[in-house]
Amino acid sequence: MDADKIDRQARRILRGNDRGGYTVPTAGLYPYQWNWDSCFAAWGFSTFDVKRAWFEIHTLFTGQWDNGMVPHIIFHKRADGYFPGPDVWQVDRVPHTSGITQPPVAATLIRSVYDADKHYGRVHMELIYGRLVAWHRWFMKNRVEEGMAAITHPWESGRDNAADWDAALENVDGSNVGDYTRCDTLHVDAAMRPSKADYDRYLAIVQFSRGVEWDDAEIAANGPFRVADVGMTFILLRACRDLLHIAAELDHYTGEIEGWIKTLEAGVERHWNPEGFYDSLDLRTGVFSGAPGSASFLAWYAGMQSEDLLTLLTDILDRTQFGIASLDPRRQRFDALRYWRGPIWPVVNAMIGLGLAEQGHTLLAAKLRRDTQRLIAEHGFYEYFSPLDGAPAGGSSFTWTAAIWLAWAGPHARGRL
Ligand code: GLC
Repeated sequence: MDADKIDRQARRILRGNDRGGYTVPTAGLYPYQWNWDSCFAAWGFSTFDVKRAWFEIHTLFTGQWDNGMVPHIIFHKRADGYFPGPDVWQVDRVPHTSGITQPPVAATLIRSVYDADKHYGRVHMELIYGRLVAWHRWFMKNRVEEGMAAITHPWESGRDNAADWDAALENVDGSNVGDYTRCDTLHVDAAMRPSKADYDRYLAIVQFSRGVEWDDAEIAANGPFRVADVGMTFILLRACRDLLHIAAELDHYTGEIEGWIKTLEAGVERHWNPEGFYDSLDLRTGVFSGAPGSASFLAWYAGMQSEDLLTLLTDILDRTQFGIASLDPRRQRFDALRYWRGPIWPVVNAMIGLGLAEQGHTLLAAKLRRDTQRLIAEHGFYEYFSPLDGAPAGGSSFTWTAAIWLAWAGPHARGRL
C-alpha cells in the first residue's frame, strides 16, 4: 500500500467536494451540506488544514434554527439532482434547510478539532459553545423520552433505511403522498437504495411535520413515526460527555450537562433487548425493533461496557470482512448491498473502533482500524461496502470516507479522537 498516495487522494477528495466553506458528501447524489457528514469532514480537514475545519463547523451552524435544532441538510446554494429539496421541506428561513436533525456528533468531533488547535481554537470554541448547548438542550427538551433519544423520521438517525424502522414504518400511511420523482436512483443502482414503498412513507412523514409547521409538541403528540433510536441515544450521550469536557475547559457552568448525562445513562438501560443487544424501540407501540445492527455497538463509544455485546460483536465479525455490517448477516432482512440493511460504513467502523479502544478492548479496536484501512486502500473512497467481500457501493469520492482515512483509519492517522 502506498499510504502517501492514498493520503493525497483523500485530501484531494475533501478539497474537491469543498463548495466554499462547506463540503458536499459527494458530487451529484448529495449536493448540499449534510450535518454529521460535515462534522466528520471537519475532523478530516483538521489533519492538514485546521482553519478550514473551523470554517466547516461555522457554516453548519448558520443553519441552526431559533429553537436550537441543527437541521440535517443546509441548502446553501441551488443545486440540481436532489429530491426532496427546499420546496418540499418549506422551512421559512435562509439559508434554507430541511426540517429534521441528524446524529449530534458535533461536540465530539469539535472537541477533537480543538485538541488539534488549542491556540486559535479557543476563540472558535467560545463562539460555538453556546450553539452546541442550545442544540443539546433542544434534544433533551423535545426528543428525549425516558432517557432515550427519539427520532421523528428515519433520516434523522443517519441510518436511513435500517431494519430498525421497519415495524414503525408499517404504521405510516404512504398512499397519499402524490406524484414525485426521486433523484437518488438516477445516481445509484436502485437495488442499493431504499425501496419505493419506504420512500412514500418518508415523504408522508415530511408532509405531516410540514403541515404542523414543524411544531415539536405537535409532532411528539401526533406524528406518524416516533422511535427511540439506540444509535441516537448513544451518540447524544457521548456528545454530552464531550460537551461537559469542553464546558469545564472554557469555565462554563456544568450542572445542566451533568443532569443530561445522568438522564441518558438511565435511558440506555431501557434500550436493552432481552434477546441480547441494545435495540431501538417504537415509542408508539413499545415494541423493540429486533434488529441487531451496527448502532448497538456504539455502546462503548457512549462509555458503556457489556460482555454480552462483546460476544455478539465477535460472532458477527467472524462472518464478515472489513468491519461491522449494518445488520447482523444471520438475520433474514440482511441485504449485503442495500444501504443500511447490511453494508459497512467506514464512519460507523470508526465510531465503534474509537469506543472499543477507549474502553480497553485494544486488540479488537486495532483489528477494526486495520480492516477499515485495507477496505479503503483496496476498494476506494466509496460511500459503503459489502461486508461479505468489500464490493464498493453508493457514491464515489465520498467526503466522510476520505475524512475517516485521514483522521482514523490510514497509517498516518492519529487513530483516536
Ligand atoms: C445518507 C445517509 C446519511 C448521510 C447522507 C449524506 O442519507 O444515510 O447518514 O448523512 O446520506 O452522506
